[in-house]
Amino acid sequence: MKLSLKVWRQQNAQSKGKMVTYPIDGIDGDMSFLEMMDVLNEQLNDKGEEPVVFDHDCREGICGSCSLQINGQPHGPDRLVTTCQLHMRTFNDGDEIVIEPFRAKAFPVIKDLMVDRSAFDRIQQAGGYVSVNTSGNTIDANATPIDKADADEAFYSAACIGCGACVAACKNASAMLFTAAKVSQYALLPQGQVEASTRVLNMVEQMDKEGFGNCTNTGACEIECPKGISLENIARMNREYLAASAKG
Ligand code: SF4
Ligand code: FES
Repeated sequence: MKLSLKVWRQQNAQSKGKMVTYPIDGIDGDMSFLEMMDVLNEQLNDKGEEPVVFDHDCREGICGSCSLQINGQPHGPDRLVTTCQLHMRTFNDGDEIVIEPFRAKAFPVIKDLMVDRSAFDRIQQAGGYVSVNTSGNTIDANATPIDKADADEAFYSAACIGCGACVAACKNASAMLFTAAKVSQYALLPQGQVEASTRVLNMVEQMDKEGFGNCTNTGACEIECPKGISLENIARMNREYLAASAKG
């Protein structure tokens, strides 16, 4: 396949950035999108030009690093896949592909297509954990019976990989789906009950502090989420938040 890539180039968070067009040839439909980006970077290297910086790690849909906005959609046109799982067969010979970083005030560009998503880490640090007393009498987590439906729901929520596509898809750059998934995975389990109130209050407070927008129930986050995290998580977080606020 021959393609025309329009790639966002930006030196750092302070500089302006612009779209640069790169023609590319010899792209196989079985290549992943990131392998196609590797080919582009080899070409740029051969020409003595600076390669395009983009984030990636596992390349198998687990780590959540590969944050690319492709033709206006986080992780591209396919559903329930990350950018690293997107195959070039999704595109046609001669296509123009526009590649941008995830755009949000809380995700400043580090360089080119790589953004700083440490805001998500700080939300997690605000409450996305359980404190376990390791006194020697700690009960094995597996010894606590959990309703199958709750265990399944907690598992679905825990599938969030923190990629940030929900933020990039949202017109308000809201991080509600991410935060709600992290709150839900504990809210549904007995182990998460002890710190439930402080967890939801602190995580929501941190989310607001980071400059993410509010949820206005558009649902774009749910559609673009590569892990199928549902809006039900946001409803659950809102209920948890109200209950915790009422407690004071
Ligand atoms: S909720 Fe979905 S889109 Fe948002 S960070 Fe988690 S996995 Fe990514
Ligand atoms: S590189 Fe890890 S999810 Fe894509």
